[in-house]
Amino acid sequence: MTKYLVQNSGPLHGIVEISGSKNSVLPILAASILSSEECQLEDVPGLKDVDIMCELIESLGVKVQRNIEENTATINAGIIESSVAPDDLVMKMRASMVVMGPLLARTGKAQIHLPGGCAIGDRPVELHFKGLKALGAEIDVSDEGLVTSKTDGLYGADIYLDFPSVGATENIIMAASLATGTTLLENAAQEPEIVDLCNFLNKMGARIKGAGTDTIKIEGVKELKGANHVVIPDRIEAGTFMVAAAITRGTILIKNMLPDHVKPIIAKLRECGCEIYATDEGVIVDAEGKDLKSTDIKTLPYPGFPTDIQSPFMALLTTVEGRSAVIETVFENRYMHVKELKRMGADITVKDRCAIINGKAELKGAKVDATDLRAGAAVVLAGLVAKGVTEVDQIYHIERGYENFVEKITALGGIIKKVENA
Ligand code: EPZ
Repeated sequence: MTKYLVQNSGPLHGIVEISGSKNSVLPILAASILSSEECQLEDVPGLKDVDIMCELIESLGVKVQRNIEENTATINAGIIESSVAPDDLVMKMRASMVVMGPLLARTGKAQIHLPGGCAIGDRPVELHFKGLKALGAEIDVSDEGLVTSKTDGLYGADIYLDFPSVGATENIIMAASLATGTTLLENAAQEPEIVDLCNFLNKMGARIKGAGTDTIKIEGVKELKGANHVVIPDRIEAGTFMVAAAITRGTILIKNMLPDHVKPIIAKLRECGCEIYATDEGVIVDAEGKDLKSTDIKTLPYPGFPTDIQSPFMALLTTVEGRSAVIETVFENRYMHVKELKRMGADITVKDRCAIINGKAELKGAKVDATDLRAGAAVVLAGLVAKGVTEVDQIYHIERGYENFVEKITALGGIIKKVENA
C-alpha cells in the first residue's frame, strides 16, 4: 500500500491553483448522457472518482475522450447500449447514483446496485427514489440491494425533499429536464455544484430556474443538445488550502477560486485571526506569525459551513489557543478523523454530534489512516505542523478528491512524499 510521509514543514508560502470541482464534474458527466450530441468539458480534474465516472458512462456505450494533461473531456452519448450500471464501479463510488435520473430520462430504464454506506454514514438514497417515483418511475429494490427502475415516460411533478440532499436534487433535476410538463422541486440543495449543473443543462436547452435557491422549477423539454462547459473551481479543495495556510501560520495565494463559494470558511478563519483578502490574482490567506484563537463551527447544508471542511478545520482547531466546539449535523458519523488526530496528541472529546477541542496541543508525528477523503486531508495538514514524521495510510481516499495533492503541497514548501509501503 502506498503511504504519505509528512514532516513538520514550518509555515507554507506561495501560490496554489485550484482544480475543477469534483462534486460538480461528476453530475455534469452524468448529465451529458441526456443528449445524443457531443459535450465538451474543461477544467475536468484528474481524479480517481472522475476516472470511475467516465468508466461508468463508457460501460453504457457512451464515447468518452479524456485528456488528463489538458483537463478536458469530450462525451458523445449518441447511442446508449446499456442501462445497467456495473456493480464494481458503483461500489467504488457512491456518486454513481446520479446516473439513474439521466438513464431513466433518456432510455426509460436504469439498473444500479445500492451503493451502501461508507465511513461517514449509512448514506441512504430514499429521497432519490421519492423524487424519481413522483416523476413516474417504477422502482424495485431487491433483498440484495439491486435497484431496477423503468418508466413509460416521465412527467412533471411537485416534489418536496425532506432533506436538501445534493445527490437527490441532482438526480431529480436531470430526470425532470426531459419529463413532459413542469416540475417544482422544494427544499432543494443550494450548493454551487447544483448551480453549475443547471447552468450546463440550460446550455443544453433545458429550462431550469431557481438553481441556488431552495425552490427549483424545471420545465421539461423534448430533447437536449450538446454543450461546452468549464467546470467551476473546487470550493472544498480551496477551503482545504485556506486551512493549510492557517494551520501552518503561513501565507498562501489561492488562484482559480470563487470567494463567494467559501464565505463560511472565510468568516470562520477570520474569527480565528487570519487575514483574508481578494486580489486580482486570487485570494490571499495570511496567518503569518498570528496567534490564532479558537472558534466554534456547526456544519449545515449550503450556504452553511460545509461538512467537507469539518475535518480539516478540526485539525486547525487542535493547534489554536482555547476551547472550540464542532457540531456535525449533515452526516451521522463524520468524526472518524478524531481518533487519528488524537493519535497525534490532539485533545478532543466527542459526545453525540459534538466534538470539543482543547487547543494548542503539541501535535506529534504518528501512524494514521485516511479514513475518508476529507479526513485524509485533515491528517496531512496536521502532519505538516506535528513534530517528527506522520505516516498516512489508505491515501487512495485522498487521491479520489485532490488533484496533484503532493505536488501542490510540496510547491508551497510542505515536506510530503508518497512512498510504497514504508
Ligand atoms: C454530496 O454527497 C457530496 N458528494 C459530498 O461530498 C458532500 O459531503 C455531501 O453532498 C453534502 O454536502 C458529491 O457531490 C459527489 P447528500 P451526497 O445526499 O449527495 C442524507 C466529498 O468528500 N440523505 O446531500 O451523497 C445522507 O445520509 C463528499 O467530496 C438521506 O438521508 O450528500 C447525509 O446524511 C463526501 N437520504 C445527508 O443527507 C437520501 O436519500 C447529506 O447527503 C440522501 C441523503
